[in-house]
Amino acid sequence: MHNDVLDSLSDYPFDRLRALLGDSTPPDGCAPIYMQIGEPKHAPPELIAPIVTQDMSEWGRYPPPNGPVDLRAAIAGWLTSRYDLPAGMVDPARHIAIVSGTREALFMAALLAVPREKRGQQPAVLMPNPFYQVYVGAGALARGEAIYLSAGPETFFQPDFGTVGEDTLARTALAYLNTPANPQGSVASLDRLKQAVTLAREHDFVLAVDECYSEIYTGTKPPGLLDACRELGGDHPFANTLVFHSLSKRSNVPGLRSGFVAGDPNLIRLLLRLRQYGGAQVPLPLMHASAALWRDEAHVQESRELYRQKFDLALDMLDGAFGAERPGGGFYLWLDVGDSEAAARTLWTEAGLRVLPGAYMARDNADGSNPGAAYIRMALVHDLDTTKDAITRLLNTLANQAPA
Ligand SMILES: Cc1ncc(COP(=O)(O)O)c(C=O)c1O
Repeated sequence: MHNDVLDSLSDYPFDRLRALLGDSTPPDGCAPIYMQIGEPKHAPPELIAPIVTQDMSEWGRYPPPNGPVDLRAAIAGWLTSRYDLPAGMVDPARHIAIVSGTREALFMAALLAVPREKRGQQPAVLMPNPFYQVYVGAGALARGEAIYLSAGPETFFQPDFGTVGEDTLARTALAYLNTPANPQGSVASLDRLKQAVTLAREHDFVLAVDECYSEIYTGTKPPGLLDACRELGGDHPFANTLVFHSLSKRSNVPGLRSGFVAGDPNLIRLLLRLRQYGGAQVPLPLMHASAALWRDEAHVQESRELYRQKFDLALDMLDGAFGAERPGGGFYLWLDVGDSEAAARTLWTEAGLRVLPGAYMARDNADGSNPGAAYIRMALVHDLDTTKDAITRLLNTLANQAPA
């Protein structure tokens, strides 16, 4: 006996990639380059080393579930300056929940938001297509019905909430939005964010905006949920909304497992209750390190500059092949190669390049089309030389598939 929903979730993209490639290996003498996973490889900031070992007695204590006030104050300060918020708009006591990485929190968002039924029907969970896989598992395990909103070139790679019918909106309990988006790197405009917030309030659902790539961009910083909340104003500026931020990509510390959720005080209170039952606290020394990271922008700028150099190089080499464009944010190349599984297999077996087929990050639309099927995702997480090597291999291997 087990929860049978789990049987429908046996398709995590990395498992599917392992199954696709099986025992096949790169050609002899060809050192593999792993670009399938979005794990930052820039050095973690040195500043955290002394903090983590400062007070060994803290490892002998259970961490306070919502962290020390100092961490929430650092986060409130960061949000206020990043999103130009009026002083005091974010209250560290009411608007912030500390979480052990945003993956867990995004999962819990569904347990938090999805009731047994809404207006007598099965609740709907809206999500972009392609998607970050966690949204799918969370929606399903919370017994919601996933409604996939196509996010291909026709909608500038972001879901268009305006296409959702009134009947569906009426039973929607939760909507996930990801900006900058994994995998496409697309950014939701401020107008689109405001539209999503307005719909969430009109139809009383929770809008969960995943912004873990918000600090990786070239040029203009991407707008975020809190820009929309600031502009819409009102007595309850965060009503119905939650935003998810992480140190994993911003500060190159995916191993620290540290992030936060900010937004609607009622939802934050319920999230904290939920975490009391099923959440792992971030260890206290790591919370101190997290506070120092949120207060420091120098390492973030340095990292952003490294990504800029890699995108400059890669885009120059690709020269528009496979529809390559500079993403609005994030560190992925999302390349139109025609058949993503075939390309991933060829790149691995002929060039030792491991990439993720876009088909594994998407579901079929109602018309049977799959908005990820033609694309591969390459994470530009390595150094400049490795990036150059990878793009050279890509071009040499798939040259005959590049659109003219
Ligand atoms: C879109 C998106 N959201 C959330 C996460 C989770 O990040 P973390 O749990 O490290 O904060 C990831 C990680 O790859 C991601 O790509």
